[in-house]
Order: sequence, then C-alpha cells, then structure tokens
Amino acid sequence: MPQLHDRASASQESVFSRMSRLAAQHGAVNLGQGFPPGAPPPFLLRAAQDALGRSDQYTPPAGLGSLRDALGADLGVDGADITVTCGATEALNVLALSLYGPGDEVLMLEPVFDVYMPQARLAGAAPVTVPMRLDPQAGWTFDLNALAAAVTPRTRALLLNSPFNPTGTVFTPDELAGIVALARRHDLWIVSDEVYDELYFGERPVSLRTLAPERTFTVGSAGKRLEATGWRVGWIAAPPGLSAGLGGVRQVTSFCAPAPLQAAVAAALPVARDSGFYDDLRAGYAARLALLAGGLRDLGATVFEPRGTYFLTALHPDWTAQTLVEAAGVAVIPGEAFYARHAAPHGLLRVAFCKSADDIHLALERLERHRRGRA
Ligand SMILES: Cc1ncc(COP(=O)(O)O)c(C=O)c1O
Repeated sequence: MPQLHDRASASQESVFSRMSRLAAQHGAVNLGQGFPPGAPPPFLLRAAQDALGRSDQYTPPAGLGSLRDALGADLGVDGADITVTCGATEALNVLALSLYGPGDEVLMLEPVFDVYMPQARLAGAAPVTVPMRLDPQAGWTFDLNALAAAVTPRTRALLLNSPFNPTGTVFTPDELAGIVALARRHDLWIVSDEVYDELYFGERPVSLRTLAPERTFTVGSAGKRLEATGWRVGWIAAPPGLSAGLGGVRQVTSFCAPAPLQAAVAAALPVARDSGFYDDLRAGYAARLALLAGGLRDLGATVFEPRGTYFLTALHPDWTAQTLVEAAGVAVIPGEAFYARHAAPHGLLRVAFCKSADDIHLALERLERHRRGRA
C-alpha cells in the first residue's frame, strides 16, 4: 500500500478542533475556538443575496475588481496591490510559498498562531520562534533584542501578528519602529497578520505597512471583520508592484475565493466603515471582555487584559483545559496549543469572549460551581 507523505503530519487535528469536539461531547460552553455566536450583520447578508445569480463564476485569481478596489480604499493602498484569498489562512500560505523556501528561516514570536509553523515547513523553510515574556504583574512583553539575536544569514522574513492572538498585544509605535529597523538592517520581508485590525480596545493599531511599505505584506480577513468566519474571504496587501508576483502561487492554491461572497464583501466594506459597524463591534466586545475578565478574576484567575483580538489569556493554579471541559463543562484552549519550541507558561489558558453574554454568564456559573465542588 502507498503511504501518506510525512508532511501529512502537518494536518493532524488541531487543538482548536479537538476542544470544539470535546465541548460538543461534554455539552460544554465553548469559549475555545474563535468564532462569533450569531449571524453576520444584515447589510452583509443582503449583499450576498444580491450577489447570488450575478457573481457566480470564477473571478480572476487576484480577486474581483470591485473587492480589490474596496479593499484598496479601506486600507489606503492601490487596489492593484491587493490579492484576494480564501481567508487569511490561504493568504498566509500563499505568502509562505511565495517568499521563502528550503534553506530559509522565518522568524516568529511564541506563543504562535497554529498555522504559521506548519505553513513555513510546507514551504520548505524553517520556522524559528522567539518567546514573548509573561510576567504575572506586567503581563506580556516583547523583547526586540531577543528577536534581533535570532536573525541569521538565512533569515528571510519576520512573521508578526498585531493585534496578537493569543496574547492580545498591540505593538506600540516604538516597538514597530524597532521591528522595521531590524527588517531593513537585514533586508527581511515582513508578513504582518492584521486579521484583528478592527478589534482593539485602546488606540487604533498602527499597521506595519505604513512604516515599511516597501517590504510589508499585510494579511486581513473579512471573516474576522464582518463576523463571518465561514465565508473564507481574506486578502494580502502587497508592497507596491509586487502582487503580480504572488499570482502564480495564488492561482494553484484555490484559484479564487467564492465569487458571490467576494462581491458581498466588496459592497459591505464601505457600509461597515461609514455606518459605525466597527465601533459598535468594539463596544460589544469591550462589554463582554469586562464581563469575562471580571468573572474570571473573582474565581481566582490572573487575567491579562488584551489590547486587541477577541481572546484573553489567564493563569489559574487549579485549572487545566482538559479538566475544565470534562469536569466544569467549559471549553477553553490550553496555552500549550501556541507553543512548539518553548515551554508554555504553567497554567496558561486562552479564553474567547466572541461569545454571547448568556454563554459567558453560563460559563462563569459553571466555573463557580466547579470551584465550590472542589472546596
Ligand atoms: C492570528 C490569526 N491569523 C489568521 C487567522 C485565520 O483567519 P481566517 O479565518 O480568515 O483564515 C486567524 C483565525 O483565527 C488568526 O487568529
């Protein structure tokens, strides 16, 4: 019998899918995987209904012209520099396959979003991770010197995420300036995963693209912005003139994203911006963050407030993700899911608040009952 190729091990069930499966099995409230509880906004659904029957055939691999233009206008770049993909996941894969290969190293921070390392390996490159520091008082901090020390003659790219899943970090302008200086000193590409660009709780995050337009590929996701993670519409904003160079890989990874959903996102992006949809989204998430963070603190957890994303990280001396899903009926993601080379901080959990307030209340009640049961 033929055998699956070794690289198929890159496609083992992810912790995210496993926790969703366990959540279903144990009837647990799922504060694990990051997807919102309800329907996308009505203006997006109406736009999709309008597009069905009108935009149903292949689009150019770089995307529907109207979506590239809408994204260009939204992001402040030329629509010609946009490549539309099937979610940010495919955008990151297209970049991995287009920017690096055997013998190259890609620098990323740990904790690390789960697709970054396998995608680098599938491209033949070696992922190299540098740990963020977690101090119970100061929270998560980033060490530019440690990142600089990890650069070798083989380093081709920095792959960064801000707002950062799972830490919730939003890099400050000074940190970004340091990152850009490092990339310029060693002539590195920057892949900037900004799927949570509209999900922040303080100052609007600065996009790396604005500081280093000549070398930054920005990755985005309509799924995250418009609460439709299953639609699979994402994008790359490439440095001026470079998007044509991504076309060869992009047309063999999936050819194009679903045409009617591209058309719907094109119509919805200006509405989302002009109607204040993102402001309302942030206000809704800020309220649920406060509810969850306060409840977890009352239960004895140390909570690290995120500056962005819809996740918080927390430490609790008595909790593990496995016991919570089995014994308390609450699913969260264990910190180890984000670590491969370095050890995860002991007791680290990622808890999603992109869930209904009712679900968050129910999860907190169950955790309280679990605590009383153990006392
Ligand atoms: C940091 C980060 N990048 C990329 C993605 C993938 O986004 P998409 O669903 O658009 O593929 C996610 C999804 O959770 C994410 O958290």
